[in-house]
Amino acid sequence: MGIDFQRHTFDVIVVGAGGAGLRAAIEASAQGAKTAIICKSLLGKAHTVMAEGGAAAALGNVRPEDNWRVHFRDTMRGGKMHGNWRMAQIHAQEAPDRIRELEQWGALFDRTKDGKISQRPFGGHTYTRLAHVGDRTGLEIIRVLQDKGVHSGISVFMEFTVFHLPLADGRVAGALAYDRERGRFHLFGARAVILATGGIGKAWQITSNSWEYTGDGHALAYRAGAELIDMEFVQFHPTGMVWPPSVRGILVTEGVRGEGGVLRNSEGKRFMYDYLPDMFRGEFAETDEEADRWVAGDQKNNRRPIELLTRDVVARAITSEIKAGRGSKHGGVYLSIAEKRGPEYIKKKLPSMYHQFKELAGVDITREAMEVGPTTHYVMGGVKVDPETQETNVPGLYAAGETAAGLHGANRLGGNSLSDLLVFGRRAGGAAAEAALAVKSGGEIPDGDVQSMIQQALAPFEREGGENPYAVQADLQRAMQENAGIVRDEAGLRAALADIEKLRARAAGVGAWGHREFNPGWHTCLDLQNLLIVSEATCRGALLRTESRGGHTRTDFPESDPKQARVEYVIRRRGEEMTVEARPQPDLPPDLDKIIKEGA
Ligand code: FUM
Repeated sequence: MGIDFQRHTFDVIVVGAGGAGLRAAIEASAQGAKTAIICKSLLGKAHTVMAEGGAAAALGNVRPEDNWRVHFRDTMRGGKMHGNWRMAQIHAQEAPDRIRELEQWGALFDRTKDGKISQRPFGGHTYTRLAHVGDRTGLEIIRVLQDKGVHSGISVFMEFTVFHLPLADGRVAGALAYDRERGRFHLFGARAVILATGGIGKAWQITSNSWEYTGDGHALAYRAGAELIDMEFVQFHPTGMVWPPSVRGILVTEGVRGEGGVLRNSEGKRFMYDYLPDMFRGEFAETDEEADRWVAGDQKNNRRPIELLTRDVVARAITSEIKAGRGSKHGGVYLSIAEKRGPEYIKKKLPSMYHQFKELAGVDITREAMEVGPTTHYVMGGVKVDPETQETNVPGLYAAGETAAGLHGANRLGGNSLSDLLVFGRRAGGAAAEAALAVKSGGEIPDGDVQSMIQQALAPFEREGGENPYAVQADLQRAMQENAGIVRDEAGLRAALADIEKLRARAAGVGAWGHREFNPGWHTCLDLQNLLIVSEATCRGALLRTESRGGHTRTDFPESDPKQARVEYVIRRRGEEMTVEARPQPDLPPDLDKIIKEGA
């Protein structure tokens, strides 16, 4: 007699209910597929809302010179020429339509004086490009997608965690989950599964991510036989809160710098002038007066303020200043919007930041500077997908949004995640629906497989005196923060891998107490397995990449190595072993190469 589980049958299952998952489900349903969303948390409680400052799309509403070619070029250069060129092209070409579509569905974007969707500047974008709703853009996008989704006939399973993807006849055949509230098991049969579970930020101590982001989609895909790539490229957003300790890591939107915010060290110096990379020379203002003129609207020569360099550059600069002893009182640097903008403007354009600092830190940003420092925000790496369809190398398995890799290369430009999830969420949903409807029937999922996975999930209850899973998670976060953070070297990465091996042994002995109904300790035992996989993948990729590029900085290899620019490190499961190997990426076709070299 096995453990009871409930069966459900759908054409398409979407795991994750942030922007990518919702957009994918809307599309799959529109194509006629019986679609369900399974989400670990509440519908729409997603990291999407942490993309506060805007969605990047070359609408050309504020700067008519903008077009998809400039956006494509910015994305490739921002990703340090490592990104998948076809994804960057599709993204830049389709983003404007996805934004206009959202508006038709009810999104209330800020407007220009002549009534168009307003756009704001952001790091690494040549032109003022981010469609926004104050500093709550992700939240508005989620609101609209939720509204559209619930009226599209999609079934929603909230507070369900997927822990296994059964395969049948060489295809993904569904998803095995438990509901967190009751602790009961559910088998979802489906002919296509889309992973849109977001990122892996909870593997680090300081992060903008909330508790859900334990790399579930990455780990599910890996266990099912999918390839992971680029896992060494982790984005440390330059500006998270640093004080008080209870809010450390919470995001301070790049919109603050987009609206004119200035970074200073403890000596009052605008230090970013010292960190301009050769690649961007000539594109940024070299004096405060020049930057002020640009902020005031005189943008003829388009030399942006130095704080609008790409995130990898700004985060590294802040780290260097702090290390050199020029940090702020609580170990960050100072970010001031008050010195460039008046209180009314700040409250109108950055209302969440105003309240966040007032309520959480007792700081009035209309008068005082904020203290900020880098926070783990986003993983550029993830599941390798086909650029057109988002399908993985496992038939029937798709990935979209932060769970998928390729578009952002070695460093993501702010604002590109929201347009990414709209463009590729839609593509994944459409392709998954088409494939699911073409496959005659779902494969038979072997009962033994389901029972053995359920037994494994319940194993922590059998371990009387087992270790506390939170202790293992905390030690893993410490190891990753210390040795796989914003700067790395070989010795540190090897130490992190050795720690991960020991932590894996400890994770095999973690215990859960009490019953299955809403038991966070039990859930953490299961989350730990995923965190260990993504942490190991990050360290293995980082060890092999003997250069510095974008979000991956090696102190023992401080320069970029042109030979590794277009090499991806591919992570695969071979039995119980994790393997990593180098694979060259296809070269850019001549027309796109020309855009990069000659400008758009
Ligand atoms: O800073 C921000 O508002 C974050 C945006 C993003 O990650 O795209």
